[in-house]
Amino acid sequence: ESYDMGGHDTYMHKEICEQPDAVDRVLRGRIDDRFSTVHLGGLNLDAREARGVRRVKILGCGSAYHTGLIGAQLIEELARIPADAEPASEFRYRNAVVDPDTLYIAVSQSGETYDTLAAVQELKRKGARVLGVVNVVGSAIARETDGGVYVHAGPEVCVVSTKCFTNTAVAFALLALHLGRIRDLSVADGKRIIAGLRKLPEQIAEVLSGEEEIKKLAALYADAKSMMFIGRVRGYPVAREASLKLKEVSYVHAEAYPASELKHGPLALIEPEVPTVAVLPDDDLLEKNRATLEEIKARSGRILAVAHQEQEKADHTILVPRNEVELDPILMGIPLQLLAYHSALALGRDIDKPRNLAKSVTVE
Ligand code: AGP
Repeated sequence: ESYDMGGHDTYMHKEICEQPDAVDRVLRGRIDDRFSTVHLGGLNLDAREARGVRRVKILGCGSAYHTGLIGAQLIEELARIPADAEPASEFRYRNAVVDPDTLYIAVSQSGETYDTLAAVQELKRKGARVLGVVNVVGSAIARETDGGVYVHAGPEVCVVSTKCFTNTAVAFALLALHLGRIRDLSVADGKRIIAGLRKLPEQIAEVLSGEEEIKKLAALYADAKSMMFIGRVRGYPVAREASLKLKEVSYVHAEAYPASELKHGPLALIEPEVPTVAVLPDDDLLEKNRATLEEIKARSGRILAVAHQEQEKADHTILVPRNEVELDPILMGIPLQLLAYHSALALGRDIDKPRNLAKSVTVE
C-alpha cells in the first residue's frame, strides 16, 4: 500500500480496512498443501534444531507483546512446546536466566523499539538463539536476530497498531503450524489449520462489513467513565489488546482482566458507568464465561459481547464468523479495533496522532 489515504479520513481507518489484503499477503507463497505445513524461508532453524527446542519465550512491547501472548498460546497448542510472552521492557532489566534450549522470539512492527532491541542484544550476548517476527524489512531487530518471519502488513502509519497486530498473530499461527508439523501435529490438524487460515481474509471482510453496527454501539458506550475488557485463555490477549486500543485512541480508561480473575478484586469496580466488553469464543470455556456475565449483570453492569452466537446475558453482541478455535483470537480482535476507532471519533479525538504517543519508541 502507498502512504496515500486512499479515500479514508484517517490512516487508522485505512489500515483497519486493509486487513483482508494484508492477511492474504502474509499467507501468500507459504502454504504447502502437499505436506499440510508452511514454509518460512527466513526462519534459519532446521528440523533437527526445531525438535530440540524445549521452551519458547516471546518478547515485545505494547501491541507486539499482546501478539506474543497469542503466539505463545498457538505454539503451545499446535507445537506442544511450553511457551510464554513477556514485555521486552521488563525482561531486559531483570537479569533473566538465558537457557540454551529456549528459542527466543522478538516481535516488533517497526523493528526499532529500543526496549525490544536491547533485550535481543542482551540475549545474543549470552549466546541465545533469537528469531524475529517483524514488519519492517531490514530494520534493526530484523538485522540483529538470527532469522525469523516477516509479517508483510505493509507500511503502518497510524500510531495505533491494527493491521500489523492481526498480521503478526497470523505469522505466529504459521510459525506454530510449521513447528507443530516438525514435531507431532497430525496431517489432519495441519490441513484443518491451513483451511482456517485460508478463510481469514474473507471472514475479516465480513466482520468489517458490520462497521455501521459497531459505530452505533461505540456511540452507546462512549459515555463510559471506564471500560472493563475480559476474556478467558484465547479471549484474554484479545481483551488486553482491545483495552490498549481504546485507551490509546479514545483516552477512555480501560482495564483488561482474565474473566476468571474478576471475582478476585475488579468486580468491585462494576457499576452501570463501567461497562464490560467480553470476548467469548465458542470454545470449551463458553459456559464459564457465561457464568461471569451473570456475575456482572448481578452488579448492574452493562455488557457488550464479542461472540460466535448471540449472548442472552449481554446487552449487545457483536457476532464474528466461526473458524478453527485456535484462530479465534485473530478474528475477534477486528471488531474491537473498529469499536476503539468509532469511540475515538465520537469523542472527537485526533485518531492518527494520539496525545503523548510516538509510532516507534526508540529511546529508553
Ligand atoms: C500499538 O498500538 C502501540 N502504539 C504500541 O504499543 C506498539 O505496539 C509498541 O510501542 C511496540 O512497537 P513495535 O511493534 O514497533 O515494536
